[in-house]
Amino acid sequence: MFAVNKSVLIAVLLHSCFATIYARVIQEETSSDACPPPQLAFNGTETEQGEVRIRKDYTHIREVKFSGSIGPLGEKRLCKIKCIGGQWVGPLCVDNHDNGRFHPLFRSCKLEYINPHLVVTFRNVSIQTAGWVFPHEAKLQIRCRELGLYKLLGTASPRCQNGVWSARLPSCVPTTLLTNFTEDAPPTLLIRIPSGSASVEPGGELAVFPGSTVHLECLFSRRLGSPDWTWTSPLGQYLTGWAIAAEERDWKYRLSIYYVKPQDSGTFTCATPRGITNSLTLQVAAVHCDPISVSGPHLTIRVEGTRLGHTAIFQCPMGFKVNGAANLTCQASGKWSAPVPTCELVKCESLDTPGGLYEPHLHLEEHNNSYGGRAIFSCAWGYRLMGPPGIECELNGNWSGPLPKCVPIQCPPPVIPVNGHLIQSEAAGMDGGRYAVGSLVQFACRGAHQLEGEASIICTETGFWSHPPPFCKPRCPYLGEPDNGLVAPTKFAYEPGDELQITCSPGFEARLEARPKCLPDGRWSAPLPNCTNYSEI
Ligand SMILES: *[C@@H]1O[C@H](CO)[C@@H](O)[C@H](O)[C@H]1NC(C)=O
Ligand SMILES: *[C@@H]1O[C@H](CO)[C@@H](O)[C@H](O)[C@H]1NC(C)=O
Ligand SMILES: *[C@@H]1O[C@H](CO)[C@@H](O)[C@H](O)[C@H]1NC(C)=O
Ligand SMILES: *[C@@H]1O[C@H](CO)[C@@H](O)[C@H](O)[C@H]1NC(C)=O
Ligand SMILES: *[C@@H]1O[C@H](CO)[C@@H](O)[C@H](O)[C@H]1NC(C)=O
Ligand SMILES: *[C@@H]1O[C@H](CO)[C@@H](O)[C@H](O)[C@H]1NC(C)=O
Ligand SMILES: *[C@@H]1O[C@H](CO)[C@@H](O)[C@H](O)[C@H]1NC(C)=O
Ligand SMILES: *[C@@H]1O[C@H](CO)[C@@H](O)[C@H](O)[C@H]1NC(C)=O
Repeated sequence: MFAVNKSVLIAVLLHSCFATIYARVIQEETSSDACPPPQLAFNGTETEQGEVRIRKDYTHIREVKFSGSIGPLGEKRLCKIKCIGGQWVGPLCVDNHDNGRFHPLFRSCKLEYINPHLVVTFRNVSIQTAGWVFPHEAKLQIRCRELGLYKLLGTASPRCQNGVWSARLPSCVPTTLLTNFTEDAPPTLLIRIPSGSASVEPGGELAVFPGSTVHLECLFSRRLGSPDWTWTSPLGQYLTGWAIAAEERDWKYRLSIYYVKPQDSGTFTCATPRGITNSLTLQVAAVHCDPISVSGPHLTIRVEGTRLGHTAIFQCPMGFKVNGAANLTCQASGKWSAPVPTCELVKCESLDTPGGLYEPHLHLEEHNNSYGGRAIFSCAWGYRLMGPPGIECELNGNWSGPLPKCVPIQCPPPVIPVNGHLIQSEAAGMDGGRYAVGSLVQFACRGAHQLEGEASIICTETGFWSHPPPFCKPRCPYLGEPDNGLVAPTKFAYEPGDELQITCSPGFEARLEARPKCLPDGRWSAPLPNCTNYSEI
């Protein structure tokens, strides 16, 4: 058994039930016991290439050490997997609390859901979205978003213990200001800092710069009795009582701390006559944050100062948006509440995706998803745009409207002529009595009727038929010629009103009561007469 220091430059991802580790192999130890190549992937994607490339290398390797990056913030730790009895075991990672010994990674915990009232912080980084996975021993800090307006119920700092949170995530209970001053609600605590500065810390404490003045106002309906302020700072002597101003005197029970000193740190609790409480923890800290240095282009900044509680507000010019937090507060840790943001060009979601637009039949004619740019659409043949043909990328990064739709162009059912009918040759193109573009319909006339107009018409892209529907006009049929006689005029069909003139050959005569006349319904008024031998009459 011997150690080699091959620097195989591969990015490794090991999936195990313990954790997801993005790593780079830094050292391997070889032996003659063969393990299959460990399950490897490049940046989260398992690749054939990776397998093939290392299969050869791993046949004699017994231990692989790599630098793992663990948890959502990518904490770096030395980890290893070991080949034991032909199987990879691990990962084991160095535990900084145990003299750098290797330990199995305990199960991580997932944050499935974040109640919108909660502000969740992990290692001073605010966690905005659910779905994060936290390593074993990770401790979250949780507070209610509106300090004083809600009371946190439950533990403010749950810890991940081998896949299970040490406590349920807390919830936020609305206080008197939100419940219309009902007697069973915890009192609302309002904070006013008429002079000085303060910051709301991730753990829900109010960090105050020394020398500030703090008014804590406990909101309670005076006609229900007086609440009571208590505090944990042993030397504290504070002025408490109902506010004086007429509009406040019936609902604001105040505690005032003038010229805050470090020994004022502690928890201040307001209890209603029924003993329902709400508390606020004050932490006095003479902290300054480092001045903010802005390096990126476009970014403008308005800094109040670098003292605890001071804010820095960032802005970007038109067409850009602040990427990150636009408001930073100097916190008790001496750090700004978030990293300095950058200005990012406003872009709308790209519509030009490889899968095409999800709206079938819709085509992009033009696509510019920068602020002020536009997307222009068209539809496939036989479809018509419904909605504006173009949308613009707006300043907020949203398109000015939804994508238009493509609706099939259809012609209405054609008018069927009286005494006629359709020959449904293209029934496939029909949709609920309507016809798709390109559908062809043919007409025929019934009985003694003749088609006048186009016998077949087609549904065009305009949604109209190529021609008006034909008419079926009544017509008398040609009766043929009588024996020994002639008929005039001769036509294939006769219009109503036409009369037949019969001329018999010499020696023959037609016995005529009336000349046959074409009637309006397409029938002859009389049958074709016979030319009979004169001598027979
Ligand atoms: C893996 O991802 C990191 C950061 O996302 C990148 O810097 C690195 O080049 C990627 N490596 C490979 C092999 O794709
Ligand atoms: C609060 O109380 C007032 C007066 O009793 C009433 O008019 C109002 O509707 C209540 N509001 C809510 C949200 O219950
Ligand atoms: C940023 O801070 C300013 C001044 O304190 C405040 O008016 C504004 O509402 C804050 N904006 C955000 C997004 O928190
Ligand atoms: C987070 O902030 C607290 C003070 O609020 C500080 O004591 C602590 O060291 C910070 N933690 C990290 C990981 O930066
Ligand atoms: C996209 O639109 C913006 C705003 O009208 C314009 O400044 C930019 O040049 C356009 N980009 C392209 C590639 O046409
Ligand atoms: C952008 O559109 C989304 C989805 O319609 C909407 O939720 C969001 O509020 C819009 N953003 C702005 C800044 O209007
Ligand atoms: C014409 O002659 C035929 C055969 O002789 C007869 O059936 C028919 O009724 C005659 N037509 C008329 C109008 O007399
Ligand atoms: C008409 O009938 C008579 C007698 O039947 C006959 O003699 C004569 O030839 C006929 N005429 C013609 C033109 O057929």
